Amino acid sequence: MNTPVQNPEVPTPGRGTPWHARVLTLFPEMFPGPLGISLVGTALASGLWTLQARQIRDHGLGRHRTVDDTPAGGGAGMVMRADVIASAVDAARADQPHLAAIYLTPRGAPLTQARVRKLAQGPGVLLLAGRFEGVDQRVIDGRQLEEISIGDYVLSGGELAAMVLLDACVRLLPGVLGAADSLTEESFEGGLLEYPQFTRPREWEGHSLPEVLLSGDHKKIAAWRQSEAERITRVRRPDLKR
Ligand code: ADE
Repeated sequence: MNTPVQNPEVPTPGRGTPWHARVLTLFPEMFPGPLGISLVGTALASGLWTLQARQIRDHGLGRHRTVDDTPAGGGAGMVMRADVIASAVDAARADQPHLAAIYLTPRGAPLTQARVRKLAQGPGVLLLAGRFEGVDQRVIDGRQLEEISIGDYVLSGGELAAMVLLDACVRLLPGVLGAADSLTEESFEGGLLEYPQFTRPREWEGHSLPEVLLSGDHKKIAAWRQSEAERITRVRRPDLKR
């Protein structure tokens, strides 16, 4: 079966190799999708990172390339087979053994900016995007796949979750953000949500800009922003620290 490949010259790993994302999916045609656009897409086109989407069905069984079967113990839906997924994972790891191997699932640990930062600092990721009722637990355990969730809701498959994870990682790669974009003051960097932003016009529908932002007093502005960040975090995300 034809496996669409973006950026087909995936270099052999080593120093100076671009960050690599490899995605195992039943729908490789979903990639790069939104990852081919704007900041992250420009970075892909310029080789700051590479992406390869691989068809899981290439490892399917029999004439129909079967990848799933009914759940052991009964129940609704279908489960992706351990032998098929292991074959896909092993083949994907053969020339890239150091990628962080992740299975996207709502049962996983919540994705955090701290985990994203770590993944962006590594050689890249191998992402397994599931469909149906999920993947046989034995292959998750046997291949030591890290289970990650992008939030407490259920998507129809792991592909969009994989794209979310990739977008979050790629924007942190060296050279991806322009010099004007700051990573230091954004949400979660100080354990807080970011302070609110404003721009022109000075007066809009009867609302003026917060006075302090027009003061030119950078110390006062920084203090106001800090207290706004703390206030909004307390209200919206009491679970975050502080
Ligand atoms: N697959 C389906 N739902 C998901 C979620 N919330 N996070 C990660 N992968 C998923």
